[in-house]
Amino acid sequence: MKNAIRAIPFALAALFGLAVLPVHAEDEQPKITEETPYVPSPKIVVDTMLRMANVHTGDFLIDLGSGDGRIIITAAKEYEVKGFGVDYDPRLVRLATENAQKAGVSDRASFVDQNVFKTDLSKASVVTIYLLPEYNAVLQPTLLALKPGTRIVSHDYGIGDWEPDAQSKVPVPEKPVGLEKASWIYYWMVPAQVAGRWQSNIPSASGSAAMELTLTQHYQKVAGTAKIGTRTVVIERPDLKGNDLTFELTDGKQQLYFEAHIVGGQINGQLQSGGKKLPWRAVMVDTTNRNSDRKIK
Ligand SMILES: C[S@@+](CC[C@H](N)C(=O)[O-])C[C@H]1O[C@@H](n2cnc3c(N)ncnc32)[C@H](O)[C@@H]1O
Repeated sequence: MKNAIRAIPFALAALFGLAVLPVHAEDEQPKITEETPYVPSPKIVVDTMLRMANVHTGDFLIDLGSGDGRIIITAAKEYEVKGFGVDYDPRLVRLATENAQKAGVSDRASFVDQNVFKTDLSKASVVTIYLLPEYNAVLQPTLLALKPGTRIVSHDYGIGDWEPDAQSKVPVPEKPVGLEKASWIYYWMVPAQVAGRWQSNIPSASGSAAMELTLTQHYQKVAGTAKIGTRTVVIERPDLKGNDLTFELTDGKQQLYFEAHIVGGQINGQLQSGGKKLPWRAVMVDTTNRNSDRKIK
């Protein structure tokens, strides 16, 4: 994905007088070569971001670099969610706070004068971002460490080399930055850590057989093998969404379908074979594959 090419960096916005950048203490943020100025997301982009993130009642939304507050305010008004935005420009924090009051959502939407790199994101079920790619790359480890299942949407830029789960292009004829009169919106779901060795039992012709699952992972992309008795088979169609992993394998003549819900080092799930669904549990015994950065197609 060529994020930097798809939209001309915001420096141009500053050149066109769209933003007057505040001065910030150097120790407040990691080394960033170009600050992200204030460029508001058009309404159609905000709506698409919230729709792609599947925002719904009960969500807690955090907007990193919240500008005039439009993302959180729209979410609070239209989806009844709670959340807060952070921005290091106190004038924008004041403006967003006033806008939330005018919209009648200040009980659900608040704004804090804070650096995005110092923000505690642990309460978030959804994170929205419209920051330069360099910011997103610095934020990548923090975002990946969020609760599995947390949804992230970003306007125009990706998050380092983490491939999005979905992306959408929205025409924006009035867009003030970039040559392409369109915005890209990228969506990710934070994956659980599944890489490692898992031990379990599965039904077999003789009753039950030990199965050792060895999984590797590159973000949400998973690959692996299953050792059943003396045979080792490759797992098929692995699909990881947050804490939920599904995959299939062929054991001799039988095709097995696994649905796993991962909590900590345990899998609680079921497996389907020959039209029958059976409970299936597995326990993580070794995490040495955890930092596998092998690209998985
Ligand atoms: C492109 S604007 C996006 C505004 C809003 N999220 C939207 O989509 O309409 C980026 C915002 O991030 C803020 N910002 C940039 N760097 C920041 C940082 N390190 N900490 C907090 N806010 C920052 C800017 O002041 C600006 O308001």
